Amino acid sequence: MDVLITGAARGLGYELAKQFGEAGDRVYATTRNPEKANALNRVAASSGGKVTVHRMDVGDGASVKACARELAGKPIDILINNAGVWGGLDTQTFQNMDYENWAYEFNIMAMGPFRVCQAFLPNVLASRRKTIATMTSQTAAAAYDHVIGYSYASAKAGLNRLMTGLAQELKDQGVTVTLVHPGWIRTEMAGPVADLDPPDAAADVKKLLIGLTPADNGKWLKWTGDEHPW
Ligand SMILES: NC(=O)c1ccc[n+]([C@@H]2O[C@H](COP(=O)([O-])OP(=O)(O)OC[C@H]3O[C@@H](n4cnc5c(N)ncnc54)[C@H](OP(=O)(O)O)[C@@H]3O)[C@@H](O)[C@H]2O)c1
Repeated sequence: MDVLITGAARGLGYELAKQFGEAGDRVYATTRNPEKANALNRVAASSGGKVTVHRMDVGDGASVKACARELAGKPIDILINNAGVWGGLDTQTFQNMDYENWAYEFNIMAMGPFRVCQAFLPNVLASRRKTIATMTSQTAAAAYDHVIGYSYASAKAGLNRLMTGLAQELKDQGVTVTLVHPGWIRTEMAGPVADLDPPDAAADVKKLLIGLTPADNGKWLKWTGDEHPW
């Protein structure tokens, strides 16, 4: 199986790249800064060419297009939109909103996956599985009844609507578009208070992703495989 992962230098994306690579899959691991991606570069170096590292900033259309040109003609069975940013709660409350950060988060987490889907659709269509899986967050759900960071949660909510739109638009071409809440994971984003170890969360997410079928098109799933409330 051939997969592309955005934001693969650390956190969940790194663990997914490592675990898909260890399983012998072909991994296009993308990062903003390949020269600084030391752990990922080590995974690539010991993969016998199965894992390769590519530059892509999902917030920059030219960068996404350049990466797509580099990978033109390569089938991608699972396109994994993983890259995300969390600017911290202090600057995204009702009383204190950093509007520039809000626009930045929307660009990375909603527009970013959209432009990645646009640029890599030919690769997805050339594959057997034709799957697009996008990491969203439980905080985007109207059913989530805790304090939210408004920029992050609204960017992910926008992302959810974009992906459900694509699920409708692309289903006749045999594409499966699925949203995944990966759990609360002890990465740089969520910090040490979170629930799940990155390797365990990645193992669950990987299992979920490789089990996706057209019946999952348009669904929002938890890392456990259960449906997520909207
Ligand atoms: N951790 C959680 O509890 C949790 C919960 C729900 C959802 N999620 C979602 O799961 C995904 C992975 O999160 P994580 O916890 O692994 O976060 P993380 O440790 O903060 O890693 C985020 C990754 O996104 C990359 N990234 C940021 N901006 C980018 C850009 N413009 N272009 C390309 N890559 C960019 C980062 O790359 P650099 O190394 O270049 O900075 C990094 O590799 C995110 O979408 C997040 O929103 C996480």
